Amino acid sequence: MPKSFHVTTFGCQMNEHDSERMKGMLESLGYAEAEAAEGADLILFNTCSIREKADSRFVAHLRQAAAHKRRNREVVIGVGGCWAQSVKDQVFRDFPFVDVAFGPGQVHKLAEFLTSDSLTAQGFFEFEGFTGHLPSKRDREFQGWVQISAGCNMKCSYCIVPSTRGRQVDRPLDELVAEVRAMVAEGVVEVTLLGQNVNAYGRAVAGGPRTSFAELLHALDAIEGLQRVRYTSPHPQDMKEDVVLAHAQLESVCPHVHLPLQAGSSRILKAMRRTYDRRRFLDRVALIREHNPDIALTTDVIVGFPGETEADFAETLEVCEEVGFDGAFTFIYSPRRDTEAAAFVEDFIPHEVAVARMDRLVEVIQRRAGEQAQRFVGRTLDVLVEGQSRTDPSKLRGRIPHGKVVNFTGLASPGETVPVEITAATSQTLAGEMSLLARALG
Ligand code: SAH
Ligand code: SF4
Ligand code: F3S
Repeated sequence: MPKSFHVTTFGCQMNEHDSERMKGMLESLGYAEAEAAEGADLILFNTCSIREKADSRFVAHLRQAAAHKRRNREVVIGVGGCWAQSVKDQVFRDFPFVDVAFGPGQVHKLAEFLTSDSLTAQGFFEFEGFTGHLPSKRDREFQGWVQISAGCNMKCSYCIVPSTRGRQVDRPLDELVAEVRAMVAEGVVEVTLLGQNVNAYGRAVAGGPRTSFAELLHALDAIEGLQRVRYTSPHPQDMKEDVVLAHAQLESVCPHVHLPLQAGSSRILKAMRRTYDRRRFLDRVALIREHNPDIALTTDVIVGFPGETEADFAETLEVCEEVGFDGAFTFIYSPRRDTEAAAFVEDFIPHEVAVARMDRLVEVIQRRAGEQAQRFVGRTLDVLVEGQSRTDPSKLRGRIPHGKVVNFTGLASPGETVPVEITAATSQTLAGEMSLLARALG
């Protein structure tokens, strides 16, 4: 019987990407994926540490795995990702049942560990390489992640990522183009480029010439058969005209920018070390919209950053009101170990104040997103089919180029792109009907 493994993934798309590589690598070693952690020979966690909640959720899972191991001593428990990296000094002391721990730059070491003689208490934490060249097991065969860089050179005062993922390192452009070409040959039609600050791509190419994110977009757009290019996340500071124009000029580059605002008050942005102020953010938005009037804009916002006054928060509401984002991820500030802002203890905002601000923010975000979504109603848009609708099994689910999910009636297979007439819209999703006539004319 082949050995079995189970991977639980927490955190961002970068971890999703790395987990696909872990799975691909394990299958090439002869392991088979198990349905559940219980009963698997190798129980793996790919962890996140971005907020405190991420930590506590994961530790509960880890305790369960320890219980499986008590019943079967042969079970191997592995912990990878950002949490593992950030607690590397304590992990084996606090969780003695963990057999292997590795940071985000060390996924390939898992194979070395599994084929080594001593299957116990090994840790790997120095960044060594990208996972891009490892075999991959994609969740959906028509969509793929592409990691264009690792690490982050920004110093946002609330953020743990620079300490878990290290300094920025970019992959050479020709290597990325070759990887995407190979994915397209396997049936991928949509790629999402991943990095902590994707539009800083090109300045830190390991052993290669300097290039730029816009150049990368142009090179990928030239690949025959690649329909959609998405990316996340850009930093407002580096959102320059060449990238804005690439959206307008290149057909495959999707009309969606996720532009993290974090806060609307210039004073708070400064304390966050975001390197732009309210004015500059709004200028970026204006530039993007000037060249791409229909583009979807989404964002991240943190409420309750240390020292945030009612007036500061009102500015965040104002900016969200003014921009009218198509959607947002909203977070309550969470102090993280080894970050600058975690030391601003005397300025911490009481949790109930932050929760009340969050409620007000969500109201503005949803109302504006709902209003913005009405622009799609009555239009026929290309939808990349992802599968069955999650809410109504008689319908299909897919995404318009702007990234919004649409649930629609029609007949199509996952991976196909079909024309859908949008009939209704809310802040979260669209509803529609597949246009059979348009498809027949096709
Ligand atoms: N590199 C990306 C993503 C960073 S993590 C970027 O800069 O856009 C994703 C989001 O989590 C951030 O944009 C931020 O809004 C939020 N976040 C990060 N650290 C946080 C913290 N300590 N507390 C609350 N939210 C945080
Ligand atoms: Fe964190 Fe800022 Fe880097 Fe994003 S840009 S990963 S928020 S330090
Ligand atoms: Fe989490 Fe690390 Fe991603 S902390 S959000 S898994 S970069």
